Amino acid sequence: MIIASNFKTNYTRAGTKAFVQAIQAYIAQAKSRQQVRIFAPFTALDRFGEHDNLKVGAQNFYPVQSGSYTGEIGFQQLEEFRIESVLIGHSERRHLLKESQAFIAQKYDFAKAREVEIVYCIGEPAEIRVQGIDAVMSYLWEQFEGIDVHYDRLVIAYEPVWAIGTGLSASLDDIDDVLSRLRAKLSKPLLYGGSVKVDNIESILHVKACEGVLVGTASWNENAFCEMIRIADHVNK
Ligand code: PGA
Repeated sequence: MIIASNFKTNYTRAGTKAFVQAIQAYIAQAKSRQQVRIFAPFTALDRFGEHDNLKVGAQNFYPVQSGSYTGEIGFQQLEEFRIESVLIGHSERRHLLKESQAFIAQKYDFAKAREVEIVYCIGEPAEIRVQGIDAVMSYLWEQFEGIDVHYDRLVIAYEPVWAIGTGLSASLDDIDDVLSRLRAKLSKPLLYGGSVKVDNIESILHVKACEGVLVGTASWNENAFCEMIRIADHVNK
């Protein structure tokens, strides 16, 4: 399974390095089978000499190799650190940073051409959720507009906007309902994200179509993140 941490706008260079080293040491000692991802801030990217099943990824990029885009980070800068995994479509970028579906699709195509792993995030806001599952699914399908769902390094993260950073994850029934509807049409790994923590990760990972989690807040503590990896190692599916 994929157990991913999204640092968002947290951690310094030194803090990231210490975190990555601690997780690396834990994975080696526990002989963990999980695919672990740590999406660090740009300023903390580095060559950490990760194991095969641990990758430090980028939370964002501008869809150019290099050029004149003041304040942006292109692929040349990511390649310096051999970044092999990127987040695209996170709700904070869709809603707070106003990224359009067209721009997200442009980023997706760019990352696909670079053959990196893409963790592609989708999720509905609260006002759609209250309209019921059909409204939720049509909202989610619209977030696939312009996205090649056959790309072989695609991982999909379903993260309901109302569950992100609120401490209130979606119910297991809701996660199961959405993921199984996605599974019926998509053959890529499906993750759940939104207030995943030590206390609920086990039951979430038991949801049939769920193949991992994308964790924000609760992962910003290395012991808690290691504990989540440990729990995932004990889930047999
Ligand atoms: P959260 O964030 O775990 O704090 O809800 C998840 C995410 O935004 O990826």
